[in-house]
Amino acid sequence: MKKVFFQTFGCQMNVADSDDLLHALALRGYTPVHDSNAADLVIVNTCSVRERAEERALARITEFAAKKRGHKGKKLWVIGCMAERLGDSLKKQIRGINAVIGARELEDTESVVRKYLDSRDGGEPHDLPAVSGVSEFVPVMRGCNNYCAYCIVPYVRGPEKSISADGIVRTIEKRVEQGVKEITLLGQNVNSYDDLGIDFSELLRRVAGIHDLKRVRFTTSHPKDCCEKLIVAMAELPKVCRHIHLPVQAGSDRILSLMNRRYTREHYRSLISMIRKHLPDADITTDLLVGFPGETEEDFNETLSLVEQVRFTTAFMFAYSVRAGTAAAALDNDVPRKTKLERLGRLIALQNSITGSIYNSMMGKELDCMVYGRLEKPGSTFLRGQDFGCKRVLLPCTDIKAGTILRVLAVRSSGMTLIAEELKKGPPL
Ligand code: SAH
Ligand code: SF4
Ligand code: F3S
Repeated sequence: MKKVFFQTFGCQMNVADSDDLLHALALRGYTPVHDSNAADLVIVNTCSVRERAEERALARITEFAAKKRGHKGKKLWVIGCMAERLGDSLKKQIRGINAVIGARELEDTESVVRKYLDSRDGGEPHDLPAVSGVSEFVPVMRGCNNYCAYCIVPYVRGPEKSISADGIVRTIEKRVEQGVKEITLLGQNVNSYDDLGIDFSELLRRVAGIHDLKRVRFTTSHPKDCCEKLIVAMAELPKVCRHIHLPVQAGSDRILSLMNRRYTREHYRSLISMIRKHLPDADITTDLLVGFPGETEEDFNETLSLVEQVRFTTAFMFAYSVRAGTAAAALDNDVPRKTKLERLGRLIALQNSITGSIYNSMMGKELDCMVYGRLEKPGSTFLRGQDFGCKRVLLPCTDIKAGTILRVLAVRSSGMTLIAEELKKGPPL
């Protein structure tokens, strides 16, 4: 049987795409391996969102291309967002790449496999590999129409397209039959989901209605479209996790407008109040971008004050990276790199102290934790899981099956992880 190795960079959408391609390759007789040296086909799924993400992918591709020389028959595919952006020029830049398959072509994995594998490739088709875990990602839409001034995603992923609600429900039902217990619905802006009038809150209700599915998560919401209807649906649906990821990017109205985010700080704060009203215990998380062209110390201080006011559970924080072809790339008042990194450092320190105090306030509280499996660290004696919000939980090992939801007691916190103990009360949920 032929062997395939995946190295996946970037966001959860890329993880879902790699998984889809693996399923299509399995039907051509490929089986996944953890050691790239043992693979007949090495696939690097790439991200373009920041320059650093591309550099990391390029370094890995160069390494795989060098290893592959002298091994006739081994193949190297570069797929995903950077493959879309740079196309076949990648083959000239790095010798040894057999195929460059962009994110948009990758949407149809069966035709990718037909086109890029020749008839001698592969082997006996075998059943789809067992799903890799109890928690999986399912895209509900592709692409993005928002054109935030800094962002490459609309260029590499193309325009927004919603996947049919019936198709999504069928996909999830199949996964649930294979043992999946938790699904995260994915889209760049799930709030603009629209399948012939079915909006995201209705989709959420349908997905939450799937028997034997225990938990539903989703990401990402855009503050310009996030609405009370969705938050009310979350509050009414006991399977939907109490976590909303609502990227704000910046706290200054001037910068938000230059970013083309199409909301104000005040609007964002009113959304937070509305969420806290309906879902008082929800974890609210965000993305923050510092050093957008022209960002002054005053603008940046508004980001810091917003972070203090909202008290996000956690945040992904980035220094602005110029992406060729975006609107912001044409602005000439770039913030010096040193200033960007210095601001990023201050922001991370502030957010870490907030995260720390939120986690500390959880001590002695009871949580419902879904167990995902063993912590994959040599010598580890912990199970890893997640509470009903977004907090990572570690539990001393027991023989609990992955997918079980346990009532646990938070006893310690360490960085962005809660250490908990199982409560011996009644049967698992
Ligand atoms: N669709 C999501 C974001 C997807 S990209 C949304 O609208 O919120 C994930 C995050 O990467 C963004 O939220 C932003 O904070 C960051 N990002 C995007 N482009 C970037 C750039 N050019 N430089 C640095 N960070 C960037
Ligand atoms: Fe990028 Fe904005 Fe689209 Fe998010 S909403 S993917 S930040 S363009
Ligand atoms: Fe995701 Fe990176 Fe593409 S964030 S959509 S993999 S550019």
